[in-house]
Amino acid sequence: MTSPIRILMCAPDHYDVDYVINPWMEGNIHKSSRDRAVEQWQGLYQILKQHAVVDLVTPQKGVPDMVFTANAGLVLGENVVLSRFLHKERQGEEPFFKEWFEQNGYNVYELPKDLPFEGAGDALLDREGRWLWAGYGFRSELDSHPYLAKWLDIEVLSLRLIDDRFYHLDTCFCPLANGYLLYYPGAFDSYSNRLIEMRVASEKRIAIEEADAVNFACNTVNLEQLVVMNKASDGLKARLNAVGFQVIETPLTEFLKAGGAAKCLTLRVTEPVLADVHANVHVESRIISIQGHLLDSGLINRALDLIVDNGGSFQVLNFNLGEQRQSTSAAEVKVSAPSHEVMESIISYLIDLGAVDLPQDERDAKLEAVPKNGVAPDDFYVSTIYPTEVRINGEWIKVQNQRMDGAIAISHTSEGVVAKCKLLRDLETSESVVVDVLGIRTIRKTESREKRNAEEFSFMSAGVSSERRVELVVEQVAWELRKIRDAGGKVVVSAGPVVIHTGGGEHLSRLVREGYVQALLGGNAIAVHDMEQSILGTSLGVDMKRGVAVRGGHRHHLKVINTIRHHGSIKNAVEAGVIKNGIMYECVKNNVPFVLAGSIRDDGPLPDTEMDLIKAQVKYAEQIKGAEMILMLSSMLHSIGVGNMTPAGVKMVCVDINPAVVTKLSDRGSIESVGVVTDVGLFLSLLVQQLDKLTSPYVEKVG
Ligand SMILES: NC(=O)c1ccc[n+]([C@@H]2O[C@H](COP(=O)([O-])OP(=O)(O)OC[C@H]3O[C@@H](n4cnc5c(N)ncnc54)[C@H](O)[C@@H]3O)[C@@H](O)[C@H]2O)c1
Repeated sequence: MTSPIRILMCAPDHYDVDYVINPWMEGNIHKSSRDRAVEQWQGLYQILKQHAVVDLVTPQKGVPDMVFTANAGLVLGENVVLSRFLHKERQGEEPFFKEWFEQNGYNVYELPKDLPFEGAGDALLDREGRWLWAGYGFRSELDSHPYLAKWLDIEVLSLRLIDDRFYHLDTCFCPLANGYLLYYPGAFDSYSNRLIEMRVASEKRIAIEEADAVNFACNTVNLEQLVVMNKASDGLKARLNAVGFQVIETPLTEFLKAGGAAKCLTLRVTEPVLADVHANVHVESRIISIQGHLLDSGLINRALDLIVDNGGSFQVLNFNLGEQRQSTSAAEVKVSAPSHEVMESIISYLIDLGAVDLPQDERDAKLEAVPKNGVAPDDFYVSTIYPTEVRINGEWIKVQNQRMDGAIAISHTSEGVVAKCKLLRDLETSESVVVDVLGIRTIRKTESREKRNAEEFSFMSAGVSSERRVELVVEQVAWELRKIRDAGGKVVVSAGPVVIHTGGGEHLSRLVREGYVQALLGGNAIAVHDMEQSILGTSLGVDMKRGVAVRGGHRHHLKVINTIRHHGSIKNAVEAGVIKNGIMYECVKNNVPFVLAGSIRDDGPLPDTEMDLIKAQVKYAEQIKGAEMILMLSSMLHSIGVGNMTPAGVKMVCVDINPAVVTKLSDRGSIESVGVVTDVGLFLSLLVQQLDKLTSPYVEKVG
């Protein structure tokens, strides 16, 4: 055969499953039959010999996987990038493959030590020669891709593998002649699937099902119109035939036990170079530093997991462990991402965690003008609850009005540059906005271990309390409430009408009366039902003392609304003696400000209900300013609204019967928020009982 295509193979003289380095090997140690393996390898070899020149490398003892020559290296033209195996079990193959390439006249490139790359197992040339697809996630490191681009002078498209059964790119991806692609989408993350779809037209993509994928249908040798594989379903064969490919199946089950099949057993060593194709690499790297109690707070784990989960890879360049109990640790981490877009999303997550750029990498924040009042530039940085600083003209400036889901607006005033978190609608064309993720850092507290342990709230650390722990949480909330009140601090309560229906109204009234609440936030309903109870003794028409529905009671709340409308405001109704007790009564009598934000559900509404939602949001935000603690009581709508405008550092307690609501609110990654899954009436009753009990221990503790 004098085909221009040459293939390198290695006879399975020493092949066996001797160790486990992928899920296929699990349970298969020494379970493969040598005779059957030889027979199957011969089957493939004979087929390929009819269509290509097959070179053989001498098998070596002690390196059983040398039979999988796809992992020898990656060839393009005269150049080869030699593999650097991740697992020490395979590293012994490297010198034998290197020798073969050198003897056959290739220029051999070797990657730095500790930078794994597993050859044509993880790097596959588009069969039109336009670019190189390169995998990462299990065996090869993303940081190897820029070397491939440089040495082979070709564009490299990085694909992230996420299913450990498909640990090499060639187990789930096979570029075919004429621009076709055979692949299993389930093996890739969504970014990679999008990249594949952008580069390969839908009529050229042959996406296979899992059943074919686990038979290694993608681990195929493609020689022009021929595809040689272990096995394919009838459906897949028909699809391949329909686009002009002839399928040859040859059983390779003995090699499947080690996680390989036809393609793994071969390396194409003649890959033509296209003159008009040149290097282009999309991989970006940045060095970040993270400081704090990295180990005991789990920050470093979270940072590294986050990099990988979001499609990047990392290398810890150095780690200085704090030696004393009080001292903090610092780490420098090189983050790599397959594109600028992925890097931006990783860095914005890291900024939230408190990771900052290294001094030598310090760059000013990128600013873009506000294109139109109320509109941010496309790539604007979305703010978080954490105190943030932005670097402008070489100086770090603290961002004012910190809140989540805003943009950071920069304006030049007589006092200098001012950075402020603003809602999109408030942006003005005279301002510019921080875009991208450069020159931004968040400041996270790095309290000592002792201080954190002593923190009253810390034991609840952002967890959802189970029923058993409710009493314990109530005790701590009571203690905090008393402390804040006595120090003249500020507690804000947001509450829904369930507080009244569950009999919690009298307890919340008492909290207001006794000075534990400095502002009340809610909607139309809590005020209506509270006053219904005060005027008519019912809540939603149910007699609150006897627990039975009152005839005609369903109209009660409308009558109450009408009465208040008649008086013009809740305050007027209280002063006229129409309302004699309850939450709203106590607010008026004790000068506790309240804001009622309207909603589409509202009846009436009450004259005090602010139906202009933008104004309502502004009024809520004004009341939240300076709060030390926010009690969020059984209103998903108002609690989430409040949560979004509250910066980190404010203690938040969310009480709701639905764990999903509680999780959503307490899962802000801040130690100051705690969720309590329980009946709100019960919670409030326990809370006032606890406050009653508190007097003596509180005095002792404070004294
Ligand atoms: N007649 C009216 O005008 C009227 C009536 C009802 C609601 N509204 C308005 O509709 C909006 C949304 O109302 P919302 O905040 O009540 O609804 P919501 O659905 O946002 O929140 C109610 C929350 O209460 C929780 N809950 C239910 N029973 C509970 C219990 N026993 N203990 C603890 N938590 C419990 C639920 O899980 C839910 O998360 C508000 O603005 C409100 O003012 C108006």
